[in-house]
Amino acid sequence: MTGNRTFTMIKPDAVENGHIGAILEKITAAGFKIVAMKYTQLSKRDAEAFYAVHNERPFFGELVAFMTRGPIVSAILEKDNAVDDFRALIGATNPAEAAEGTIRKLFATSIGENAVHGSDSDENAAIEGAFHFAGREVY
Ligand code: CMP
Repeated sequence: MTGNRTFTMIKPDAVENGHIGAILEKITAAGFKIVAMKYTQLSKRDAEAFYAVHNERPFFGELVAFMTRGPIVSAILEKDNAVDDFRALIGATNPAEAAEGTIRKLFATSIGENAVHGSDSDENAAIEGAFHFAGREVY
């Protein structure tokens, strides 16, 4: 059933700004079931590994510094068409381009500090979920 799951993080900016509750409310109101969730902080090694696909990008150092500067909420979410529906719910990577009512439009401040992560494919959803959660932590 991995095709019906996606992985998300509420990033340090949104946690610092007190938006955990409001973001979880938007996620559950949109019909996603939380099947795994934790409040945690990434180490530099964790963030470099999680975002390894971006390690040649000019913003990689900034991205790792941002993602490690405070706690995050990570979660696996279940719903029909989870990956695409969640990307629609969060909006464009750059909040300036995100549609009205999307999580990034409401809570993100910049393209780097964009409040939430959402997996971009079923394959990456499975990889990212397994990076953060052991099988026994998924319900
Ligand atoms: P995310 O969806 O988690 O995946 C990669 C992240 O890199 C992205 O969200 C942003 O936080 C960050 N990112 C993408 N583009 C830029 C950019 N141009 N400058 C800084 N950070 C970026």
